[in-house]
Amino acid sequence: MSFRIQPAAPARPNRCQLFGPGSRPAIFEKMAASAADVINLDLEDSVAPSDKDEARANIIAALNDVDWGNKYMSVRINGLDTPYWYRDVVDLLEQASERLDQIMIPKVGCAEDVYAVDALVTAIEAAKGRSKKISFEVIIESAAGIAHAEEIAMSSPRLQAMSLGAADFAASMGMQTTGIGGTQENYYMQRGDQQYWSDPWHWAQAKIVAACRTHGVLPVDGPFGDFSDDAGFVAQARRSATLGMVGKWAIHPKQIALANDVFTPSDEQVQEAREILAAMEQAKANGEGATVYKGRLVDIASIKQAEVIVAQAELIAGN
Ligand code: COA
Ligand code: MG
Repeated sequence: MSFRIQPAAPARPNRCQLFGPGSRPAIFEKMAASAADVINLDLEDSVAPSDKDEARANIIAALNDVDWGNKYMSVRINGLDTPYWYRDVVDLLEQASERLDQIMIPKVGCAEDVYAVDALVTAIEAAKGRSKKISFEVIIESAAGIAHAEEIAMSSPRLQAMSLGAADFAASMGMQTTGIGGTQENYYMQRGDQQYWSDPWHWAQAKIVAACRTHGVLPVDGPFGDFSDDAGFVAQARRSATLGMVGKWAIHPKQIALANDVFTPSDEQVQEAREILAAMEQAKANGEGATVYKGRLVDIASIKQAEVIVAQAELIAGN
């Protein structure tokens, strides 16, 4: 470890973030009754420009009136390149109850985007005497966003989570696809007659994970658009979990159980992690730094790997 210790990310479950348009209040109670850890009420791209005012009012009313249980409540505001975002922040901070936990800032391209929202939020919190300090999450979904992922990850002490938004990201990067996440038909390797599909999101995900882990922020995988394709969703989510992401968005309720399942370490994984820890305890007692577990090397680094899995399981079980 470097002299500088890697800070821990916020200790709350973030396996699934369920989205719903603020202009569709009929689904709010269903969202509240779901098994998602985080609720994202949307003011941005799932809401038509003509519905922005109404959606804002719906969300403020629902934050006050709906019983959201222990869900972490986030509202996605409009991007800083729109005429809507300041009104989103002002109305939410002035009128929503303390049930509001978090603001999601989309299309963040640089640290100053977060700084601007932070300044506004901080002033309104002080003016209104709000006691809960609102946290932030951001979406990396542009060339600028991914290029500046690390400065964004360290932009504000309010920042708790960072998601990859595949659709806008693909558009901004000029990627030749209309798919939202998952396998892309033309991204493959060819050997002889055989094609092997590769993962076009891998680099962006890994970059986000590194930026987040360096600065104690939760890395999250964004939407998977084809909600008829459960196997595709699960494959994408498993890749994200393997890379270090803690959760994934659901843009349809059927994706919630899939995400929760992937981002909750399985009993077998937890059992194996505990056995590795026990094997290393024994090794230490024998004065060894490395030993053999099920025919493979485990050493002091394996303790940290196993601890990640046990800590995740305990965090989820404790909630
Ligand atoms: N949260 C909770 N419940 C939802 C829901 C959501 N996001 N989306 C749909 N439902 C409910 C429906 O009301 C319906 O309930 P019912 O069985 O009581 O009638 C049930 O789930 C099945 O819905 P279905 O008919 O399959 O979907 P739909 O056509 O009503 O809606 C979408 C499909 C994709 C338009 C809708 O899921 C949606 O708006 N998703 C979120 C989009 C979003 O927020 N995007 C921004 C982030 S990328
Ligand atoms: Mg987007």
